Amino acid sequence: ADLRARNSFGVSARAPLLLEVDHAAALVDALAALPAGPLLVLGGGSNLLFAGDPEGAALSLRAASRRILSDDGGHAIVRADAGADWHGFVRWTLAQGLFGMENLALIPGTVGAAPIQNIGAYGVELREFVHVVEAFETATGRIRRLPRDECAFAYRDSLFKRERDRFIVSAVEFRLSRAPAVRIDYAGVREALAADGTTAPTPVQVFDAVCALRRRKLPDPAVIGNAGSFFKNPIVPLAQAQALAAAHPGLPQFPGADADGRKLSAAWLIDACGWKGHRDGDAGVSMQHALVLVNHGAATGAQLLALARRIAASVSERFGVALEPEPRIVGDHW
Ligand code: EPU
Repeated sequence: ADLRARNSFGVSARAPLLLEVDHAAALVDALAALPAGPLLVLGGGSNLLFAGDPEGAALSLRAASRRILSDDGGHAIVRADAGADWHGFVRWTLAQGLFGMENLALIPGTVGAAPIQNIGAYGVELREFVHVVEAFETATGRIRRLPRDECAFAYRDSLFKRERDRFIVSAVEFRLSRAPAVRIDYAGVREALAADGTTAPTPVQVFDAVCALRRRKLPDPAVIGNAGSFFKNPIVPLAQAQALAAAHPGLPQFPGADADGRKLSAAWLIDACGWKGHRDGDAGVSMQHALVLVNHGAATGAQLLALARRIAASVSERFGVALEPEPRIVGDHW
C-alpha cells in the first residue's frame, strides 16, 4: 500500500499491507489474520517521518464517533473514538458548551494519536483534560481503560509512546468544564486578543485567536509537507541553562518538569545556527519557523532525516545541547 497520502510530510513509503479496521472490537480478529511482525498504527500521519518503508503492516482505526457520556452541570465526560479528527473534536466540544481545549485548536491529527505524545500548545497540554484512555492491549487482546494517572504523561511523552507496541489507543475520554476558564498566559495569544480589543475573551475567541496564530506561524501541511515541530524543546540541567543564558541572553528558557531542569527554545537554537529557510534540494527548514522541517515537493524521508541530523549536529557543536526529534521516525533510527 502506498502511504504518501497518509503522512503529512507527503513523502513516499510503502507498507506490505494497510489494514483499515472499523472498530477496536474487530482488532482481535484483524491482528490474528496478520503475519507476525511489527505493526505500524497510523493516525493522521502528522507526527511521523518515513525515512524508509515500514517493515510490517500499517493499521488504522476508522471509528470516529463522539458523544457526551455524563454531565453534572459543572463538568461533563466526553468520549471520542481514535479515528476522530482532533480539530473537529475540539470545535465540537466548544459547540457543546464544554471548555478547556480551545488552546489545542488546529493541531493536525486524530484523537487516538493525541495522548501518545501528550499534544500541547499555547500553555496547555492534553493531559490536563484526560479522564481515561481506552486502549487495545496487544499481548492480551483486551480493551483496557487507563485513568489519566496511569498514562505516565510528560512533555511530549506518555506510556503509549514509551511502550509503543503494547497498546493501540481506541478511544479517549475527557473531563471538560461547563464554566469557561480561558488560559492566555502565552504571550502570543494574549497579545493577539489585546490587539483586537478583546479584554475578557470567551473560549471561542481564544479558539479563534489560536487558529489565527497557528495559521500565521506554522506552515499548513496541506500546502507544504511538514510534521509541525521536528524537534522537542530540549530540557537541560539548571547549571547548563544558566551558563547558556549568560552567554546568549536572547535564548528563551522555560521551566522544565522539575526545579533542576530548564526547557530551552529549540527554534531559537536552530535559528541562531542559520538554518531558517535553508534548503537541501526539496528538503528544507521552513521560512516561517525554524523548528519545522518542510518537504518542498519531492524530498524523500531519508533526505529530511539527513537534514535533521545536520541541524542537530550544528546545534550540538555550537551550544552543547542535544536535540531529539519529536515525530516518530519509521524505517531508520535517530
Ligand atoms: N523562535 C525563533 N525562531 C523561529 C521561531 C521561533 O527564534 O523561527 C523562538 C522565538 O523566540 C519564540 C520561541 O522560539 O518566542 C518559541 O517559539 P514558539 O512560540 O513558536 O514555540 P515553540 O517552542 O517553537 C512549541 C511547540 C509547538 C506549539 C508552540 C506553541 C514543541 C516542540 N513545540 O513550539 O508545538 O505549537 O510551542 O505553544 O514543544 C508541535 O509539537 O508540532 C508544535 C507545533
